[in-house]
Amino acid sequence: MTEKDFIPDQILELPESGKVTWKAPSNIALVKYWGKKPNQIPANPSISFTLDACATTTTLSFEKKKITSNGFSFDFSFEGKAKDDFKPKIVTFFERIETYLPFLKQYHLTIETHNSFPHSSGIASSASGMAALALCLLSIERQADSKMDEDFFKQKASFLARLGSGSACRSIEGDIVQWGKTSSIPESSDVYGIKYPFDTHQNFKNYHDTILLVHKGQKQVSSSVGHDLMHVHPFAERRFQQAHDNLERLKTIFSSGDIDTFIQIVEGEALTLHAMMMTGSPYFMLMKPNTLEIINKIWQYREANGNHVCFTLDAGANVHVLYPEAEKEEIFRFIQKELVQFCENGHYICDRIGFGAKKL
Ligand code: PMV
Repeated sequence: MTEKDFIPDQILELPESGKVTWKAPSNIALVKYWGKKPNQIPANPSISFTLDACATTTTLSFEKKKITSNGFSFDFSFEGKAKDDFKPKIVTFFERIETYLPFLKQYHLTIETHNSFPHSSGIASSASGMAALALCLLSIERQADSKMDEDFFKQKASFLARLGSGSACRSIEGDIVQWGKTSSIPESSDVYGIKYPFDTHQNFKNYHDTILLVHKGQKQVSSSVGHDLMHVHPFAERRFQQAHDNLERLKTIFSSGDIDTFIQIVEGEALTLHAMMMTGSPYFMLMKPNTLEIINKIWQYREANGNHVCFTLDAGANVHVLYPEAEKEEIFRFIQKELVQFCENGHYICDRIGFGAKKL
């Protein structure tokens, strides 16, 4: 599949009006996407656990315009309130996807969106938000094209979501999603995410992710600026190669169930992501003192107890604490006793691996 395959090749009989709702989850990368080429093509492959509790629900109402006009026509609300400051981002998204959904300008769209997690939690909603919106928009095309099969629908939804926010292409399916061409996964693609195509060991089923909300404020540097800085980063090429290597290693680990090596890769990836931020030009840092307190506590606890708790980070100060189902009771007790004290207002979110977006 290439970009061209996502351009509709027939004249569609589009519905006059309708309404559709999708709930799309967030995801947490194990091998991180950091750095991109033009058109949201990733500089390196990535892989993520799809989450379950952290999700965006979007309802799209669509109605054919009475008079054709040349622009995009839409209203946008977030948590029940009109949000005009979100509109430019959506216009950019519409401009990028119009070739693939050529009917967009024929409709007036009403987009109503809600997150399952608090707005000011420091959790990025761009992955779940763009995935939910892409699914809603593509549902208009699917209504008009009865021949569109489920696999194509998911691929195109992931492709469209990617044009909104790279990591959003990993928020359509579950439970593990891979994105970015790499030799160890022949089906992999730069233009959409795929469900991880191999069997995974029982140890990686039902993995838990407790998200510790260390800092709920706005990040000092956005992900798009961070991606851009990789164009001039002195270690970029070596880092991109490392992501390919780590994916290949994860493939062996997922099949053997070797959690110890899984931990080494996942924690190494998180620290490499932040090391890239700290060694670029200009350099910046998104971790906070409490991020490091938590990491050190996790290391001490793991050393003392020999269990399998580990952490990962996204582009922010919050810590994702990952642990297997078989150890969930003792590790959750540890989190409550030792780690929650480092969260802003003691706030955290209990999440786990999920199985992808759902039409409601
Ligand atoms: O999807 P973006 O452009 O917000 O980038 C996300 C980058 C990371 O979350 C840091 C890593 C990843 O692979 O999700």
